[in-house]
Amino acid sequence: MEEKIRTIKQQALLEITNAHQPEELEETRVRYLGRKSQINQLFTQVPHMARQERSRYGKELNMLKQTIAAAVEEKAKSFASVEPPMDLTLPAASVRKGTKHILSHTTEAICRVFEDLGFIVYEGEEIENEWHNFTALNIPLEHPSRDAFDTFYLDIPAKKEGKFLLRSHTSPSQIHVMKKLKPPLAVISPGKVYRPDKVDASHSFMFNQIEGFCVDTDINFSHLKGVLLHFARRYYSPRVKLRFRPHFFPFTEPSAEVDISCMICDQAGCSVCSQKGWIEILGCGMIHPNVLTACGIDPKKYQGFAFGMGADRIAMQKYGINDIRLFYENDKRFLDQFDEI
Ligand code: DAH
Repeated sequence: MEEKIRTIKQQALLEITNAHQPEELEETRVRYLGRKSQINQLFTQVPHMARQERSRYGKELNMLKQTIAAAVEEKAKSFASVEPPMDLTLPAASVRKGTKHILSHTTEAICRVFEDLGFIVYEGEEIENEWHNFTALNIPLEHPSRDAFDTFYLDIPAKKEGKFLLRSHTSPSQIHVMKKLKPPLAVISPGKVYRPDKVDASHSFMFNQIEGFCVDTDINFSHLKGVLLHFARRYYSPRVKLRFRPHFFPFTEPSAEVDISCMICDQAGCSVCSQKGWIEILGCGMIHPNVLTACGIDPKKYQGFAFGMGADRIAMQKYGINDIRLFYENDKRFLDQFDEI
């Protein structure tokens, strides 16, 4: 018995010292102190011993257990204080960098061209009232865009400036800025707009516009043409051509729609320009005197030009995207394609 106790003690202490990991130590502990351990088996022999031996070996076995338990505890403490070994040769865990959404990228790139010309960025409000979205912009009561089918009205009580709604275009930004700041003004205003359109490949109930405008004394249509030509050359290509087609918008007079020459087919005709050689990119015009007056700006002293473009449309044309829904479905396979742009 004595011999056995000594061997167990020596072996146990050796194994505890040699344990390199907490798991190894735990295995050793279970082997020596667990229910099926050799020590426990020795305990079962004690009751069959002579009286004197019984108390002696009982004590010795108990001491053995205590010694081993203390050694295990001591070793466990040493593990706790040691940092896990660090392998400096391992490659760093790769961090997946987020990427800018292609619409954010497009909006920022467009705004940048105007910012370089001295335009300031104003983001506007997504919840508007009828006065800002329609009335101040010279949009008459009978205009179809005021219809409930064409505008998201909010279910909250109307105030002095009419019902509340999700803005249907970014043009109300003109009103906010002109009410707050005095000319000279050159502002670019990107943001989301909302229309209850049925969603399909070219329609979404929410999309993005970029509004721009400039107000000062002696502003005329040639300034508008010059600024837009500069934009098109910077954003598309120095070789791009612009075409102004007369159009009607209530808040500008005269008004035009602007096309760029198709840079994909060099105007030979392709699917992006629907074989026309031209692609419509924006609406524009000289700010209507009624709009200036609504904002407290004297139209006899000041003139301005304004333009508005659809960021989704422009990104679709530029990158050959054929379905607007792709922008909003959060499919990483689609979004990742624009990682390097
Ligand atoms: N607000 C117009 C729309 O949503 C776009 C627009 C056209 C804005 C002409 C303008 C402009 O500033 O002059 O269809």
